[in-house]
Amino acid sequence: MTDETPAERRNFYGRIHGKTLRASQKGYLAEDLGRWRLADVSRDENPARALLDPAALFGGRPVWLEVGFGGGEHMVHMAATHPGIGLIGCEPFVNGVAMLLGKIRAAGVDNLAVHPGDVRDLFEVLPEASVARAFLNYPDPWPKRKHHRRRFVTRDHLCPLARILQKGAEFRVATDIPDYVRQTLEEVPQAGFELVGQGATPWDDWISTRYEQKALREGRKPHYLTFRRL
Ligand SMILES: C[S@@+](CC[C@H](N)C(=O)[O-])C[C@H]1O[C@@H](n2cnc3c(N)ncnc32)[C@H](O)[C@@H]1O
Repeated sequence: MTDETPAERRNFYGRIHGKTLRASQKGYLAEDLGRWRLADVSRDENPARALLDPAALFGGRPVWLEVGFGGGEHMVHMAATHPGIGLIGCEPFVNGVAMLLGKIRAAGVDNLAVHPGDVRDLFEVLPEASVARAFLNYPDPWPKRKHHRRRFVTRDHLCPLARILQKGAEFRVATDIPDYVRQTLEEVPQAGFELVGQGATPWDDWISTRYEQKALREGRKPHYLTFRRL
C-alpha cells in the first residue's frame, strides 16, 4: 500500500506495549482473543493478501470499522447500541486490546471482531466498498509539524479508507487538536469525501472515550466531524 519499511510503520503508533498487563488482562488475551480475532489480516497469516469477506463474518449485516479503538469503550458501546451491524476494530496496543476484551465480556456483545494490529494491514485485505461506516476517535495527534504527515488524515491512509467504504458511507472523526481539525478539513475531502457536519456537539449515539476524558480534564475541547463518502 505504501513504500514504508516495517520500521517506519512502527513509528506511526510508537509503542505497542505500555504498562504491564494485569493478571485479568493476560487472562482475557489468552482465553478470549482467539474468538474475536479477525483471521488472515497479517502478512504472516495471509502473505498473498487474499481478500476477506467481512459481511459473511456477520451474517450479511452491514460492517462498520473503528480505527485505533484504544480501551474499546466506544467499540463495545456501538456494538451494543447497534445490534444490526458488525463492527471491526483495530488497535496495535496490546493493553488496549486486553481492555476491550474485558469490556466485551462484561457487555455480552457478539457483533464485533478485532484486528490486534495496524489498520493498514486491514485496508489491504478488505474488499472495495465493503464497509458502511468508519470511526476515527482521537487519532494520535503527532503535534510536531515535521510529523504531520504521519497523521491518519493523510492520503496514504485516507485513499485506502475511501476504497473500502461504500458510496454514501459515513466517516466520523473526533479530535481535540485544532490543527488536526484543520488538516482533517483540508485532506479528507481530497480523498473523495464531503463534509456533512462539524462542531462541539457529539453524535446522538456517542460515548465519551478514555482519551476524550483526559482531554476534557486537561482543558481541551472536543470537535466532531462527519463526512460522507462520495
Ligand atoms: C490517542 S489514542 C485514542 C484511543 C481511543 N480511540 C480513544 O478515543 O480513547 C489513538 C489510538 O490509535 C491507535 N493507532 C495508532 N496508529 C494506529 C494504526 N496504524 N492502526 C490502528 N490503530 C492505531 C493507537 O494505538 C492509540 O490507541
